[in-house]
Amino acid sequence: MSSPRRSIHGQWSSRLAFVLAATGSAVGLGNIWKFPYITGEYGGGAFVLVYLLCIAVIGVPIMIAEVLRGRRGRQSPMNTMRDLAHEAGRNSIWRWIGWMGVLAGFLILSYYSVVAGVALGYTVRAGLGSFEAVSSAGAHALFKEFIGDPERLLAWHTLFMVMTMVVVSRGVRSGLERAVTFLMPGLFIILVLLIGYAMAQGQFMEGLRFMFAPDFSKLSSEAVLVAMGHAFFTLSLGMGAIMMYGSYLSSKTSITRVCITVAGLDTLVALMAGLAIFPIVFANAMDPGAGFGLVFLSLPIAFGQMPMGTLFATLFFLLLVFAAWSSAISLIEPAVAWLVENHGMGRGRASVLVGGIAWALGLVTVLSFNHWAFEFRFAGQVKETGMFDVLDILTSSIMLPLGGLFIAIFAGWIMTRKSVREELRLEDGPGFKLWYVLVRFVAPIGILVVFLNLIGLI
Ligand code: TRP
Repeated sequence: MSSPRRSIHGQWSSRLAFVLAATGSAVGLGNIWKFPYITGEYGGGAFVLVYLLCIAVIGVPIMIAEVLRGRRGRQSPMNTMRDLAHEAGRNSIWRWIGWMGVLAGFLILSYYSVVAGVALGYTVRAGLGSFEAVSSAGAHALFKEFIGDPERLLAWHTLFMVMTMVVVSRGVRSGLERAVTFLMPGLFIILVLLIGYAMAQGQFMEGLRFMFAPDFSKLSSEAVLVAMGHAFFTLSLGMGAIMMYGSYLSSKTSITRVCITVAGLDTLVALMAGLAIFPIVFANAMDPGAGFGLVFLSLPIAFGQMPMGTLFATLFFLLLVFAAWSSAISLIEPAVAWLVENHGMGRGRASVLVGGIAWALGLVTVLSFNHWAFEFRFAGQVKETGMFDVLDILTSSIMLPLGGLFIAIFAGWIMTRKSVREELRLEDGPGFKLWYVLVRFVAPIGILVVFLNLIGLI
């Protein structure tokens, strides 16, 4: 017997729909914008290796734990946590993990939407042919001008947030599901094309070496923290988004299999983005540690030189916007579902309320790129965009791993072995045992070690 509960919000129409939606949530700016730039900042190969390790031994097991809890609870993370804690004879203090997730969701969406807004703006620029034959200096100037203008950033941020609210307000099937079915394949094709270009015209071998030849002397404790945090960020873990998506999953689907598929696709897209970007970075003597603008600085140069570059550039940035869109909706889904469950609000009003709050918080990021910019050092890096970096580090490197830690502890130690096995529909065989060890010991201890190491206790 698996979960007797049903979600009041609806259910995915098929297993494929869940895989697509969860992949849509996972694949986003994290893969194409963030992964390359942090890989560049934290020194390449060794960072990538730690990231891959974190995906395998921390990310995937926690993803399975999150989806299984969502499906068992079938409600927003706060209510699911409360009910499952009661079921296991614990008190409802666990519900606060749901709340921390909602807060993380707001904070992440606030800056996510601003960056997605830059991608929107770049789509229009690409379409107007601004990248034709652009030089490295030209691409820098374009980017500087763009982020230096708060009004322009605000306009695109507002547009992106409205797009997000529209989809979320339409609900599970007609909104979330439809939006993702046709985007992923398109993005994949353009990335293949870009890698082809990087092989022909860029310093491909140098890019490859940078990404895959580990130099552990470059790996600081902060870099390990950022790599682990990014494993959570890129898989959309630790704040209830995937729990929410799990709550819409049919009881018949094998959770383990879909999670491994989603994590595999997500990792593939990130590595492909790196392989497309770094050869171009090296061929144009750019700094791989250029920071959060890396994608917007490097790819226009490549598009500017390739045949039909204007067309491909427009398509690329458009697909990036779509990838960001299908991720953004998952960031506010838990809060919206909670308002619907506990306050009887309609999805429409709930989406506008939640999106409105994230929009207002986004003003901080808009200004941190220009008027409010300040510098600080982190892990030997000069961070130039003050509050944006603070928000990013606070959410992805601290709140998400912390949320993940509690999720692992809950699935591994609070819920009974029998109930998790039932929900996973696994025999008590090697597969289940492996996951159980990972989620009880390896993932929580791994997260704690990274935290303690950072504050110098280990
Ligand atoms: N995973 C998305 C990306 O890589 C971002 C994202 C969507 C996310 N939902 C999330 C990150 C929930 C953390 C938590 O772009």
